[in-house]
Amino acid sequence: MWCNGSISVSKTDGAGSIPATPAKHKYEVICYKKLDIVNHTAISDKMYEFVVNQTPILKRKIFWSYVNVHQVFKFIPELKDITDSYSIEVAAIAVIYAPPGFEGAVHIDYAKDTRILWPIKNCEGSYTRFFNIDPKYIERARLENNEPYYKITQDEPYELIEQLELLQPVMFDSSIAHGVYTNPLCQEPRLTFTIRSKESLKHLLV
Ligand SMILES: [Fe+2]
Repeated sequence: MWCNGSISVSKTDGAGSIPATPAKHKYEVICYKKLDIVNHTAISDKMYEFVVNQTPILKRKIFWSYVNVHQVFKFIPELKDITDSYSIEVAAIAVIYAPPGFEGAVHIDYAKDTRILWPIKNCEGSYTRFFNIDPKYIERARLENNEPYYKITQDEPYELIEQLELLQPVMFDSSIAHGVYTNPLCQEPRLTFTIRSKESLKHLLV
């Protein structure tokens, strides 16, 4: 089952304090850039098939899972065509599983790099939000699987920079604090995948 119900932000946010994404914001940062890839939904569908048939992610409900890049490209050669077209030498691909009702987990990626984020399933009506966090509230930490990241020690609510409903692939700056706020009407897990490059992609985020 797919979750297609898109809902307004004011209904998703209990405090009602987060405005709709402004066309421009006052912060001198670019959080993300949408990538116009014509066959992105077909690639999402194939990635879902890969996740279901070639990984234990859905059964084990694993939040963050690296997948074998070679296997993925063999199964989805169209994805390799895309990364090649951006001259991206792929370092890693990871699938992110957010269970129904998941929200927050605001963090900064350990690599603080520019990476691709791609919707797989149930991303409609859920938001990736970017926040302005004082560096004094940023601390090194590790996930249960030992994956390092930077956690935010400040209590919510945070100062919103902007938000993104992930309906197409984007390039985003993982050095800006970000978190996932799933669609509260969706009873299915939200699945996305991220691509890390060996070289900096900062120049593409303009
Ligand atoms: Fe992240």
